[in-house]
Amino acid sequence: MKLGKHLINLALFKLGATRPSCGPLKVQWEITYHCNLRCRHCQIWQIPAEEIKKNTLTLDQQKRILDDLAANDVGHVSFSGGEMFLQKTVYELIAHAKSLGLKVGGNSNAFLINPEIAEKIARSGLDMLYVSLDGDNAVTHDAIRGVPGAFDHVFEGVANLKRAAPNIGTFFNMTVNATNVGQINGVAQRAREAGVDGLTVEITNTFDKYSPNPELILARERYPILREQIRALMRGYPDLLPHQEDYFAEFETYLTQPERLYAYRCAAGYITAQIHPNGDFYSSANYERVEPVG
Ligand SMILES: C[S@@+](CC[C@H](N)C(=O)[O-])C[C@H]1O[C@@H](n2cnc3c(N)ncnc32)[C@H](O)[C@@H]1O
Ligand code: SF4
Repeated sequence: MKLGKHLINLALFKLGATRPSCGPLKVQWEITYHCNLRCRHCQIWQIPAEEIKKNTLTLDQQKRILDDLAANDVGHVSFSGGEMFLQKTVYELIAHAKSLGLKVGGNSNAFLINPEIAEKIARSGLDMLYVSLDGDNAVTHDAIRGVPGAFDHVFEGVANLKRAAPNIGTFFNMTVNATNVGQINGVAQRAREAGVDGLTVEITNTFDKYSPNPELILARERYPILREQIRALMRGYPDLLPHQEDYFAEFETYLTQPERLYAYRCAAGYITAQIHPNGDFYSSANYERVEPVG
């Protein structure tokens, strides 16, 4: 990655350019839609197996995508899904991305990270892993994730990974919804106890692919609970949070006046982009297709 190129790209964006001059800083690649959980806030697990099979690339095709990302100055690729560790080629892809000089991350539910998988991850060279934790107790997390034992697997998976790869960055990611909004600080405390490096927090959104069950959508009337949780979080766990204060301030806007967020020009395509399992490239998760750069 050439930092100078990205600085120019972002400066052009600020000046109103409508076409990036290089690839985005970071690309998230949904490497497979296979999934081992049955979440209530995400419908990816319902995608039929035949459709997944039809849209799966070969290892060579996948490696060529990484070559293209590196050639277009992308600095960071993050694998997601579905569940990335159900994709057999993922370890080779991580290693290939590392050989191209990319930083490599992942998002996982950690269910499959037993000691053997942890060793494979360690050998692949993965730099960081974001593990979903959606409640501070098994009842809440497992109810959201639709599979008993999911909560315990989070902690076992992270412990296995830290044993096999002590230098890997580990983070929890919490997706806040109507059933866990009162547990944000409890999740932060779990993060502290598990010894992970940080916690990211996002709100359940209603994009078509995720389509959360309606009872999970956080009503605007619940914002005071969210606000109190966020205040306590920022007081009690600042060392765990990568987010700036204004990130959390926009939670209120998102819940109460989402249309105001259109005031911002979206930097998707400049800072981030997304790749689907079949190789389609989108500027963001709302599926606006972009022309390839160059
Ligand atoms: C789609 S999952 C893929 C990785 C992995 N299967 C997992 O659950 O961590 C990536 C992240 O998206 C989050 N997610 C799922 N549905 C969502 C929704 N409706 N709104 C916001 N985030 C969502 C998950 O909680 C998870 O942290
Ligand atoms: S959030 Fe992750 S684990 Fe849950 S269904 Fe979606 S892809 Fe699967």
